[in-house]
Amino acid sequence: MPRSDLRAKSVESPLYVYTAIDRRLVWVGTLNLDDSSGEVPRPILADFRYAPSYLASPAAYPLDPINLPLRDEVFRTTSRFHVLGALFDAAPDAWGRSVIRADNAGLMPSEREVFVRGRGLGVGSLLFAPQMLDEAVDLASLPQASAHVAGFEEIQTVEAVLATIDEGGQVDDAWRDLLASSWDIGGARPKTIVRDQAGELWIAKFPRARDSFDRQRVEWANLEMARDIGMDVPQAQLIEGRFGAVLLVHRFDRAVEGQGTSRRHYLSAASLISPSPSFDKRDMDRPQGVATFSYARVADVIKRISSSPARDLQELYARMVLNVAIHNTDDHLKNTGFLKHEDGRTGRYRLSPLFDVVTQEGSAKHMLHIGPVGRESSFDNALAGAARMSIKPKAAQEIIGRVQDVTSRRHDYYARAGLTDREIEVIDRCMSAWHLLEDFEEDPDHVPAARPRG
Ligand SMILES: Nc1ncnc2c1ncn2[C@@H]1O[C@H](COP(=O)(O)OP(=O)(O)OP(=O)(O)O)[C@@H](O)[C@H]1O
Ligand SMILES: [Mg+2]
Repeated sequence: MPRSDLRAKSVESPLYVYTAIDRRLVWVGTLNLDDSSGEVPRPILADFRYAPSYLASPAAYPLDPINLPLRDEVFRTTSRFHVLGALFDAAPDAWGRSVIRADNAGLMPSEREVFVRGRGLGVGSLLFAPQMLDEAVDLASLPQASAHVAGFEEIQTVEAVLATIDEGGQVDDAWRDLLASSWDIGGARPKTIVRDQAGELWIAKFPRARDSFDRQRVEWANLEMARDIGMDVPQAQLIEGRFGAVLLVHRFDRAVEGQGTSRRHYLSAASLISPSPSFDKRDMDRPQGVATFSYARVADVIKRISSSPARDLQELYARMVLNVAIHNTDDHLKNTGFLKHEDGRTGRYRLSPLFDVVTQEGSAKHMLHIGPVGRESSFDNALAGAARMSIKPKAAQEIIGRVQDVTSRRHDYYARAGLTDREIEVIDRCMSAWHLLEDFEEDPDHVPAARPRG
């Protein structure tokens, strides 16, 4: 569809984009979405324009400091990851879309409807409304804010309903109310948002029938190792579900304060890097792939937007080494995020706390380039990649040593997580960086990058 048609068609039905500044609702701009071309998978056409009142406000901040500067301009895209990624970050993602479809008699509603169904509970501060909202109302009294969010006591019921959906089954009408909590937040795995008794929000991640080990227990163990390495990690706990453990991770973008909840603006590294819609995945290991999908590129973003670049670079580097050590090769750009600095006026960001660190089976290469040997999962590659991320060799050695110290004791964490010996065997087989180290130990000519001190 030509762009002029998009404008003509969607003029009737824009979405109004709001954020929260000092816990007040502020109209940011207008989003037009169109995915009605009839093609499968459905391509997207979207445009966004800041509201004049927002541009005139001294409190305004750009939704994306790199791709969406505060200018009176129509920002357009044909991809969910490009230019307007900041808005798509806050909308339902692959998992949410499959639940919405199940709730919609198996038909995928329009992109606009998907955004509205997110109810403002997606990651970060943004919310999308089909009509203009009264900015004078308290955020807590918005219909979106009062919509049902599952309580801890409902987790097992949600788990059973989502498992039915995951296996292609029909959803009983009685459970519709519960479903809504499970499509607001991003990612591809089954999950839901839950509220604890104090009103704090958590993300519950559920098992899948086909998982060959309990991924929730492994993620919990990985998060606890990261915490002991000294990384910024949200509170996490395991509870027993019907089909395995359920991982609960505290939401880092919301905080209950007095009568209300504060919302922090969030941006994924994918949005900030904004890969070209024409990028062909087969070019992943060619120069354009290296320039776009690499830890070095995320480091460049940190240098541009972080209020504490030296600390964030070290944290990013440690996360990269951890991903090598625990074989989390699913380290794609949506699995790194940034939160706007508490003092929003600076327009600066910090790396968000860590999330989605799961040991992966069957994928030898990382999603992001690590060092001179590309996406190879080895400590040597990570050490050699340090310079490009502005980490000095001594600091890199120190970080690798710290990560190895803790992760070499991973069996203690697995035991605390309740993993079985059979599961641990499967997980151990995934650890290719450690296997490489063992091979090197047998090779008298090789001097390894680092090895555990313990
Ligand atoms: N603790 C948290 N607080 C707030 N938002 C979070 C938190 N953890 C994750 N998120 C957001 O939710 C999204 C989905 O979470 P996560 O990446 O853990 O799920 P996933 O389904 O395993 O993802 P993937 O599709 O990468 O496998 C993240 O991309 C991030 O935007
Ligand atoms: Mg993820």
